[in-house]
Amino acid sequence: MTLTRSTFLQLAGAALAAGPALAQTGPRMQTRKIPSTGQDLPVVGCGTWQTFDVGDSPAERAPRTEVLKVLFEAGGSVIDSSPMYGRAEGVVGDLLAEAGTRDKAFLATKVWTQGHEAGIAQMTESLRRFRTDHVELMQIHNMVDWRVHLPTLRAWKQEGRIKLIGITHYTESMHDELEVILRREKFDFVQINYALDDRGVERRLLRAARENGVAVIINQPFGGGGLLRKLLPRPLPAWAGEIGCTSWAQILLKFVLAQPAVTCVIPGTGRPDHMRDNAQAGFGSYPDRDLLQRMVREIAT
Ligand SMILES: NC(=O)c1ccc[n+]([C@@H]2O[C@H](COP(=O)([O-])OP(=O)(O)OC[C@H]3O[C@@H](n4cnc5c(N)ncnc54)[C@H](OP(=O)(O)O)[C@@H]3O)[C@@H](O)[C@H]2O)c1
Repeated sequence: MTLTRSTFLQLAGAALAAGPALAQTGPRMQTRKIPSTGQDLPVVGCGTWQTFDVGDSPAERAPRTEVLKVLFEAGGSVIDSSPMYGRAEGVVGDLLAEAGTRDKAFLATKVWTQGHEAGIAQMTESLRRFRTDHVELMQIHNMVDWRVHLPTLRAWKQEGRIKLIGITHYTESMHDELEVILRREKFDFVQINYALDDRGVERRLLRAARENGVAVIINQPFGGGGLLRKLLPRPLPAWAGEIGCTSWAQILLKFVLAQPAVTCVIPGTGRPDHMRDNAQAGFGSYPDRDLLQRMVREIAT
């Protein structure tokens, strides 16, 4: 039997909608190359700001255990955290250890402090909380004291405690400064804000990342949740099906993933049903130029 593209997409969708058991044997999420290493990275990950800052009761832990299970079973791997996110690093570390899934995770965390010694102490503590001897990606959070931390990150990379290094921000006002940094220094990743109503990266930063071989992680694809909440009461547009979307969350994620310079998007969630929904954006086709313009016209305005 020949599998047409639309049948394939329907099967992929059905497998994930049906839940983990089917998804495990179904198709895997799409990947994109990290320019500096050529390594394939799944396009949808999970952010942990607020969503993983929870205590140790079963009621708080069980849904997050399930979120990570859904992420991995869909073929995803990127988990983004920070010492700024309260208990999140420790929660992720505990859940990965309990499930024995550390090797499935691409752990991305951050250094968020002033000073050389404080940076080393904080990164050491992050490894302890994650219960690991290395993280896949260490990012300088919000560019805080980046000139001081960068040599430490490079030294840790040499030693293998960090596989890749990055720098982050979440506001357009810092994009120009970030661009200068990306053109001057060698970073593997930049993490920045991009959403249908927050399109500043399209101006220059995505091009700067592409020209300098820097992978791009997108944070706040739902505008921190506010953009998505505004859209949820509206019926889905008729064109949603053309790009295999069955929810507003998938539409917003496919909007950012339509940019070839974007490597991965990390919507934050502590809910398994939302993780399953978000993971779907890693399957099927993405909007072309005409549809992107239509999305901006019909949704952002
Ligand atoms: N400077 C930085 O480095 C920086 C700054 C900001 C963010 N980040 C990273 O980027 C991640 C994403 O940003 P964000 O969490 O601020 O904002 P976001 O991803 O735009 O939105 C997260 C919100 O959307 C909700 N949500 C997620 N999936 C949903 C779905 N399918 N349907 C309905 N609601 C859904 C979540 O609530 P539920 O838990 O109920 O799903 C949460 O309230 C963060 O978690 C963090 O890891 C980094």
